[in-house]
Amino acid sequence: MKFFIDTANIDEIKEAHSMGMVDGVTTNPSLIAKEGRDFEDIITEICQIVDGPISAEVISTDTEGMIKEARHLAKIHDNIVVKIPMILDGLKATRRLAEEGIKTNVTLAFSPLQALMAAKAGATYISPFIGRLDDLSQEGLLLVEQIVEIYSNYAFDTEIIVASIRNPLHVLESALMGADIATIPFSVLGKLAAHPMTDKGLKAFLDDWEKTKK
Ligand code: E4P
Repeated sequence: MKFFIDTANIDEIKEAHSMGMVDGVTTNPSLIAKEGRDFEDIITEICQIVDGPISAEVISTDTEGMIKEARHLAKIHDNIVVKIPMILDGLKATRRLAEEGIKTNVTLAFSPLQALMAAKAGATYISPFIGRLDDLSQEGLLLVEQIVEIYSNYAFDTEIIVASIRNPLHVLESALMGADIATIPFSVLGKLAAHPMTDKGLKAFLDDWEKTKK
């Protein structure tokens, strides 16, 4: 499973990258806004740090506007993936961008049929938002399971980026289902590595080592 980091924060990206945990980066307008810096400056800097797919989202909601923004964003770097919202105009833009060879990440997917349509339109990636479904008492991971099955049934090339991840179980279950990618917030990445028995075992080893010096 590939790990993307779901942040626009440069320090977080550098830290996760230094652990070898960043195969790509996803951003969205809310994550960019949190940084209080120019959108394109942030995206350009991320592209200099990470050699992998970097998702940057359009703001337009009409097909022509999305295509115009996408063409502009795609010029920033070869690794740019343009995030397109899962609306009908977005599907039209996705299809046209696929014909132009511009990679897309269809975002804000909350149903398996949306994912099927995005794949048919030629999306490079689909982003099911599982945490936001869990927040509504709907099972986010069931959505991932259904998309994995549909894409496998029809051999779609579209890769699944499990998004809106809130906890390590989201990552574990997605990996067991065979989802291609998890895009993980920095705070959750730390939790994946943590185990109290590791800390306890390390402390015991170091305490015992100290005794050898007496
Ligand atoms: C994914 O591409 C989105 O940026 C992100 O996962 C949304 O997560 P949230 O529901 O925690 O905002």
